[in-house]
Amino acid sequence: MTDSKRNILVTSALPYANGPIHLGHLVEYIQTDIWVRFQQQRGHQCIYVCADDAHGTPIMLKADQLGTSPEALIDQVSQEHQRDFAGFMVNFDNYYSTHSEENRHFASQIYTALRDAGHIERKTITQAYDPVKEMFLPDRFVKGDCPKCGAVDQYGDSCEKCGATYSPVELKNAYSAVSGAKPVERESEHYFFKLGNFEPFLRNWVDNHVQEHMIHKLNEWFESGLHNWDISRDAPYWGFEIPDAPGKYFYVWLDAPIGYMASFKNWCDKQGVDFNSYWGPDSDAELYHFIGKDIAYFHTLFWPAMLEGAGFRKPDGVFCHGFLTVDGQKMSKSRGTFIMAETYLDHLRPEYLRYYFAAKLGSGIDDIDLNLEDFRMRVNADLVNKVINIASRCAGFIKKLSGGQLAATLAKPELYQTAITAGEQIATCYEKREYSRAMREIMALADLANQYIDAAEPWVLAKQEGKAQQVIDCCSMGINLFRVIITYLAPVLPEVAEDARQFLNLDNLDWDSIQQPLLDHSINKFKPMMQRVEADQVNAMIADSKATLESNQPPAATPASAALAAEPLEDTIEFADFAKLDLRVVRIAKAEHVEGADKLLRLTLDLGGETRQVFAGIKSAYTPDQLEGKMTVMVANLAPRKMKFGVSEGMVLAAGPGGQDLWILQPDDGAQPGMRIK
Ligand code: 2FM
Ligand code: ZN
Repeated sequence: MTDSKRNILVTSALPYANGPIHLGHLVEYIQTDIWVRFQQQRGHQCIYVCADDAHGTPIMLKADQLGTSPEALIDQVSQEHQRDFAGFMVNFDNYYSTHSEENRHFASQIYTALRDAGHIERKTITQAYDPVKEMFLPDRFVKGDCPKCGAVDQYGDSCEKCGATYSPVELKNAYSAVSGAKPVERESEHYFFKLGNFEPFLRNWVDNHVQEHMIHKLNEWFESGLHNWDISRDAPYWGFEIPDAPGKYFYVWLDAPIGYMASFKNWCDKQGVDFNSYWGPDSDAELYHFIGKDIAYFHTLFWPAMLEGAGFRKPDGVFCHGFLTVDGQKMSKSRGTFIMAETYLDHLRPEYLRYYFAAKLGSGIDDIDLNLEDFRMRVNADLVNKVINIASRCAGFIKKLSGGQLAATLAKPELYQTAITAGEQIATCYEKREYSRAMREIMALADLANQYIDAAEPWVLAKQEGKAQQVIDCCSMGINLFRVIITYLAPVLPEVAEDARQFLNLDNLDWDSIQQPLLDHSINKFKPMMQRVEADQVNAMIADSKATLESNQPPAATPASAALAAEPLEDTIEFADFAKLDLRVVRIAKAEHVEGADKLLRLTLDLGGETRQVFAGIKSAYTPDQLEGKMTVMVANLAPRKMKFGVSEGMVLAAGPGGQDLWILQPDDGAQPGMRIK
């Protein structure tokens, strides 16, 4: 039986409001949602809140680039995020924004408390400044040549080629990624949180609140010393102004975790719940954060220290997970494995992925791999052939022989008891986030159920005279086992569980309800609850992903979310590969809008005697009439690709950071259509 009722607050990391949700993100939201649904099924009060992480330079610049306001951008992205999460059945109690009055209030309160307790210090620092854009540049917005290995176009904090870390002033040939201007050095006063003041507290706190695997990491961080943390940014900055410092703003990472509180407060106000009963220093509610391992520093050091310094309760657990790979490699745009949530949902049922992730997830920080072939086979073998099959094999006989009425006794009570007893171990696995073990235990029960039915052979008995009751008994036993198994799977498969609940004619699938078997109970007509995953569906999703990403700008990557799954920016190719490219001068004979496409134009290209149709993602930079008659360069030997809007027979070459700054046109200085570029 379950323990006494707990009050639990759960969060997942807040996604940045400047890019779409992809499968890398979903590992965490699915992991958390399963845990929350499990707790609720066990009868606990478990509230799940989240929000968009809506502040910071990348969002400010993206809005600028799109010619819109940050407010409009974050509203739009929030709607898309909520649509995608709902599509994957991630069931937040509240989804909010860090750009909210509640968040401003708590950010001010925490900052003021830290300042008054002597945990904030001011210091003048020198930073890269963009003299054209008139703004200080975050490290990621300064680019140049690596000071160690000379690799070109590296970010201002680290080199993706040799792994060196450095400060932006060390970059050679530095330029601003915003305007292209050469950055200058400029001084400014910044506000720092004195993390070191909390070292004794943190050393003690981490012992019981982070995973075993993370403790080693934290010890390394303690050994290398806890440095003061720069929590301010200069205007122009998209965020909250610091109360006593006009022109200075809270750094996005200061108010991001506070967004957990803000979202919960917003929920409390709607529900009439006392916020302090969860967040006050003496709260007996539980608080857990699910995060990716890349943002552990923020959640296991800065965050508990801020809460401690400001007199709030601390989390009971910070649960880190690993990253997602697809087919054993980092998600890749060119391979079509950088899969957006929306693209997946266009082709496949969300519960397939929920199950696959559950079957792979443990409580540690190891990366998990989505092997697409294994995904298909596993879902088909486990869910369709094993679990749903139990019900589909038994339901017809029950309907036919007893009008849907289950037997009055269990044919094999000890087998039912085995399934009930296994529930304790399965519950422990869910609680500890050992989902892959839980799934193995559940599938072992499904095997037992199928073996029982195989041995009883109801389809043979049904043909024999006078064996009807035996068939009913055997199939009732099968249905009872199905009910137990689907109850255990309900946190992972909410929609299948709901269909099963209706088929079983039950009020709920609460964890404890299965203690009583269904005897002399009437069930409803069986409808197939899940179809097989077909290879064609998976292939179509990959093709669609490729097409979507080729025709769109890459999703905006930010330091932390980039670590989730991005492929290396700089892949080198051999000269032999480069030599395969057939680059030709072409004349744009015709340029047209494509109905339904936000970014694409359809170009008809004249190669001097031959014309090609090419879709180019350059609508943000050009109108059709600016293009017609102009010359450009195309890759002429690219295999034709079927895109959503038609076949694209090549690719035009464009340069620039994107948006309006994208150039494809060559001056017409005598080049003839069809000329090869050597
Ligand atoms: O890394 C990220 O994507 C951040 N937006 C996560 C923030 S989690 C919390 F602190 F808000
Ligand atoms: Zn380097």
